[in-house]
Amino acid sequence: MLQVERAISLKPYNTFAIDIVADYFVRIKSENELIEILNNPQYKALPRLILGTGSNVLLTAAFHGLVLKMEISGIEVIAENEQHVIVRVGAGQDWDNFVEYCVKQNWCGIENLSLIPGTVGACPVQNIGAYGVEVKDCIEKVEGIDCTTLKIFSLSNEDCQFGYRSSIFKKSMAGQYVITHVIFKLNKQLTPILSYGNIKDGIEKTGVVSLENIRKVIIDIRNSKLPDPKDVPNAGSFFKNPVIANIKAEKLKKKWPNIVLYPIDCETTKVSAAWLIDNAGLKGFTYKDAKIHDRQPLVLTNIGNASGQDILDLATIVLQKVKEKFDIELEMEVNKV
Ligand code: EPU
Repeated sequence: MLQVERAISLKPYNTFAIDIVADYFVRIKSENELIEILNNPQYKALPRLILGTGSNVLLTAAFHGLVLKMEISGIEVIAENEQHVIVRVGAGQDWDNFVEYCVKQNWCGIENLSLIPGTVGACPVQNIGAYGVEVKDCIEKVEGIDCTTLKIFSLSNEDCQFGYRSSIFKKSMAGQYVITHVIFKLNKQLTPILSYGNIKDGIEKTGVVSLENIRKVIIDIRNSKLPDPKDVPNAGSFFKNPVIANIKAEKLKKKWPNIVLYPIDCETTKVSAAWLIDNAGLKGFTYKDAKIHDRQPLVLTNIGNASGQDILDLATIVLQKVKEKFDIELEMEVNKV
């Protein structure tokens, strides 16, 4: 029998540590439990909020609905050959524990995504990415339940419509699909991606190119600039790196020769949002208990008892200042609830 808790504070369940109350809260440990609750007449019409570790949400007001805390676990090899292994993983599995497990098994593909907070079920939603790798590069399929039909869905990589920090689960199917499992295809041979920033130098210092060393270097880089949500509540990058037209990028480059640009194709260029925020003079800027992180200004932090609204107000200040100075509109990466 599923246990639905009432009037529960979500403070321990979001990495911004925002203290708001949800009317109903339930832990989901299997597909059947998920179907049971979605079919329950008392709860099925309520607004729903799906939470993994709550590492990419900003809660701004009390939630008058049902929170589904996804806790389906398990890592199962469903096929393998000499080259690849296909692994089916429960949505509630901790992401970094899974990365660590793969590195220990010598399965290559997601080691650059070490230490990203969150669960396996959340990783396809925003197509997590770091250090030259996006999780879509290793996803075969995503499975879950359609909330209306209560039928199981299984989407291929292509069906998921992955983009930069985006997927079908964040767009047309937002709120409609609940992910229960992700199926990964990993490489048994070492195919390292060391092109991003100073990763190669880090690896050279450790001596050997191995999955273990790549993981170690990435963990060291992340720890050196990203705050641990356990110490300073935050949700990683708060904004996406904006994509602008090449003509605009050229103009900006003339005016600001140090601007950090990542050319995408013959029409567009990605701009470092961290650079924009930094050069709008906002590094370390504080509004009430909401603060822009000193070492990575893309990260907004809660340094005390910030409310979701305080964080949002700080984000609005950032949006305005960046727009004023560079005529670029930043877009939030974090999901506002
Ligand atoms: N920068 C500044 N000032 C600063 C800090 C950085 O100008 O104070 C500039 C630097 O020039 C640096 C550039 O920003 O070269 C890029 O910084 P970083 O390598 O940290 O990457 P990012 O583009 O800011 C993205 C992801 C991160 C991911 C890193 C590494 C997004 C929105 N963010 O950040 O993802 O870890 O690349 O691959 O794409 C996350 O999504 O939560 C996240 C942390």
